[in-house]
Amino acid sequence: MPRRAKIAIIGGGNVGASCALWAASKELGDVVVVDIPEVEDKTKGKMLDLAQCAPIERFDARIVGTANYAEIAGADVVVITAGVPRKPGMSRDDLVAVNVKIVRSVSEQIRKHAPGAVVIVVSNPLDAMVYTAWKVTGFPTQRIVGQAGCLDVARYRTFIAMELGVSVEDISALLLGGHGDDMVPLPRYTSVHGIPVSQLLSQDRINACVERAKLGGGEIVKLMGTSAYYAPASGVIQMVEAVVKDKKRILPCAAYCDREYGVGGYFVGVPCVLGAAGVEKVVEIELDPAERTLFDASVSHVKELVSVVRMMTHDLA
Ligand code: NAI
Ligand code: 2OP
Repeated sequence: MPRRAKIAIIGGGNVGASCALWAASKELGDVVVVDIPEVEDKTKGKMLDLAQCAPIERFDARIVGTANYAEIAGADVVVITAGVPRKPGMSRDDLVAVNVKIVRSVSEQIRKHAPGAVVIVVSNPLDAMVYTAWKVTGFPTQRIVGQAGCLDVARYRTFIAMELGVSVEDISALLLGGHGDDMVPLPRYTSVHGIPVSQLLSQDRINACVERAKLGGGEIVKLMGTSAYYAPASGVIQMVEAVVKDKKRILPCAAYCDREYGVGGYFVGVPCVLGAAGVEKVVEIELDPAERTLFDASVSHVKELVSVVRMMTHDLA
């Protein structure tokens, strides 16, 4: 008899709770949200509240809020959203010292309680936190992946659609690099129902969409005083769905690249085939010299951040 997938989400704050909401409403499987003991009642309450949407939204799922990691046993996917978000004036990199400790302790629990899971990391600074989760869990690189590109490319697609006044569904786009302001949206690989975007928008307008997407996280932090959560969670659940339904979707994810793109052993945003086994393939595309320069600059930034993490976790290396 087929069993329901099990999705564990660590951290039941803004992003984690929104992930639970999208996962339940899309009926992707049972959902367990784990947070720290200090907020256990709040986590239980949020998930009880969500469970009570089921008769209206018509999903069948076991929804649990807890502080007990034993509940994640048997999870197919574990999403790490534990950690602090940035406040206005902060960069994602400013979070590294606090979040590396949190992601480290969470990853130890995942290694113990859900050793067969695909792990999707969300906590920032993203590319360095994926590295941390990989080092601590010791899981194969295929089963460790970060969410950033699905969000960043969704922002970019949204801005292109707004600019053209057409459906977002018709915008297809690609983005590479780290989850920093130097991420690399690729206009050359952007099309509108198959029509290259350069035939429909001037270079200036395309550049404006690229720049807005790159700074899209900061735009929301400035407005809300904390970081975004609906679209980030939506990006996470796009990846979760690809895994639990073994869809083999091509999505931009922070995946381990060694020889791929000549990265040399770091997690960076690249197009991946995502299925039940996790990252089943990194798709290598051709980059022109200008794109290559931008990609290399973004990867250098990721390497700098990872070197900070290595100093903080030298006992793991
Ligand atoms: P939040 O503050 O609303 O929630 C974080 C939750 O993590 C809190 O409930 C907190 O109690 C929990 N937590 C802290 N330590 C924990 C531990 N050891 N074990 C389990 N839970 C723990 O923050 P929000 O907005 O949900 O953001 C979470 C993280 O996601 C931040 O680091 C943020 O920068 C990042 N983020 C990443 C995005 C991406 O695209 N990769 C997009 C948006 C946010
Ligand atoms: C975002 O891009 C802060 O990473 C978060 O919204």
